[in-house]
Amino acid sequence: MLRARITATGSYAPEKVLTNFDLEKIVPTSDEWITGRTGIKARHIAGGDQATSDLALEASKNALQYAGLKARELDLIIVATMTPDTLLPSTACLLQHRLDAKKAAAFDINAACSGFIYGLSVADSFIRSGQYKKILLVGAETLSRFVDWEDRNTCVLFGDGAGAAVLEAAKGENGILSTHLHADGSMGDLLSLPGGGSREPTSQETVCKKMHYIKMKGNETFKVAVKILENLVTETLKQNNLKPSQISSMIPHQANLRIIQATAKRLGLSMDKVIINIDRYGNTSAASIPIALDEAVRSGRIRKDDYLLLEAFGGGLTWASALIRW
Ligand code: ACO
Repeated sequence: MLRARITATGSYAPEKVLTNFDLEKIVPTSDEWITGRTGIKARHIAGGDQATSDLALEASKNALQYAGLKARELDLIIVATMTPDTLLPSTACLLQHRLDAKKAAAFDINAACSGFIYGLSVADSFIRSGQYKKILLVGAETLSRFVDWEDRNTCVLFGDGAGAAVLEAAKGENGILSTHLHADGSMGDLLSLPGGGSREPTSQETVCKKMHYIKMKGNETFKVAVKILENLVTETLKQNNLKPSQISSMIPHQANLRIIQATAKRLGLSMDKVIINIDRYGNTSAASIPIALDEAVRSGRIRKDDYLLLEAFGGGLTWASALIRW
């Protein structure tokens, strides 16, 4: 049976690190509040000359080198992002050019924090159908450009970064076993960026009203997330006839440590199986899972034949999971 297998990973985080103590000097907040409510201690912030495609490029080079693959061998490049360099061209096309991946088709996916798993599902389908054999999937975000640095409700949460995965067609039992994608647009107002689109084109008024920044109803989002993630993970395990105890590692989207802990507890999954790096990165949206995956793979935490569960929840609303046999 033809499957999509992740054959290499890569990641990149900008050099500049902003700690909770740095934030105390910017907005009325404290390290104690941020750590206690979210688990975040620090986040990386893109340099003035860095946009999303620059972070994506570094993570991609990293993954391609690990795979021993030349960019010209790629059939497709997918970038999952909600913070593209520009509305047009897509960040995937900018990346395709920078990598000189001449043969590759390229497009972006916007499913907010679920974007990487949405991309994984699309890549998996292309590979299973036989249309493409080598795909580069990147989750990359420069959220620091879209948060209001005067709004303590949001600016303490997000960070910048990129993670990449190379997916290749392979025969056998190892690879992506299933993906599960969901959305509910009726709750879109929980997390939004209202300005700069065709509904509210950028104007002096949209800028004055700060409509070009991320708005989040954090507490409502939190409650919905915990409920949805439990159902999502249960659905994923059931489809694969697996018990929580058979999962070797879970990589959740890193939005809030309390959401991660609540999901693990409801499933009876021990926290030592859960891969966490939110303390060092904050919420990097579509980049969070591939960055954590890359760290886990490179540190030897994920081994051949492990069952790996990925799950995410984000704006849209969207939520998604994937089960992988490594
Ligand atoms: N420092 C100090 N106090 C703060 C801060 C801060 N940075 N931010 C908010 N507060 C205050 C609030 O003003 C409020 O004060 P009040 O009670 O006097 O009104 C109090 O803290 C509690 O605020 P809540 O919003 O109720 O705090 P909560 O415990 O819910 O934590 C948080 C907020 C961290 C945002 C949490 O709700 C959360 O993580 N939500 C989910 C986020 C998420 O999963 N998003 C989806 C993915 S993101 C994406 O798709 C891009």
